[in-house]
Amino acid sequence: MTELIFATNNENKVREIRQALPEGFSIISLKEAGILKDIPEPHPTLEANATEKSTVIYRLTGKNCFSEDSGLETEALDGAPGVRSARFADNEPEYASNTEKLLALLQDKENRRARFKTVISLIINNEEQLFEGICEGTIATAPLGNGGFGYDPVFIPDGSDRTFGQMSLEEKQEFSHRKKAVKKLVVYLTHLSVGS
Ligand code: IMP
Repeated sequence: MTELIFATNNENKVREIRQALPEGFSIISLKEAGILKDIPEPHPTLEANATEKSTVIYRLTGKNCFSEDSGLETEALDGAPGVRSARFADNEPEYASNTEKLLALLQDKENRRARFKTVISLIINNEEQLFEGICEGTIATAPLGNGGFGYDPVFIPDGSDRTFGQMSLEEKQEFSHRKKAVKKLVVYLTHLSVGS
């Protein structure tokens, strides 16, 4: 069994990643590891924030761990909210106000193209590896569905006519940026355990 600490306090992310992992892999959330720490995300890129989070937890525990940083990028807003996705409307992470702000800014825009991006930073045996997952789609004109979290009710992935908010977790995983990044992580870890 490969066991990793997942450096996040976001229970939605824990649920999604746990569901995406095959047998033989298990993750321990920060809460389960007894680490009550809010890790800062001060950097201008998802990559740098992911690295910061995994490094903080690796230094604290000395255990193999990974983190992820995600964001929603829109073409019409030059990539915003991007790295500021969690705190787009104000400084407190508040999903409804972030979504309202996004819809207001896109109100008169024809181009509603957007993409979710996830970057995973894995630190294993003191070495870091980055994995990326991208999901292309469009922003709906109003929220639909109440599944998932964050911008899920306004994001329609390419290949579907429904928002992530209208999908079950299993359905979202077919398109999910996070799932794509996790798949790359699993391939890497599998090769590592086969080679050792
Ligand atoms: P962070 O990765 O913790 O900095 O937060 C990323 C933010 O992006 C979240 O708070 C959500 O607002 C948004 N986000 C990331 N992934 C998803 C997703 O799968 N669905 C909806 N919103 C997401």
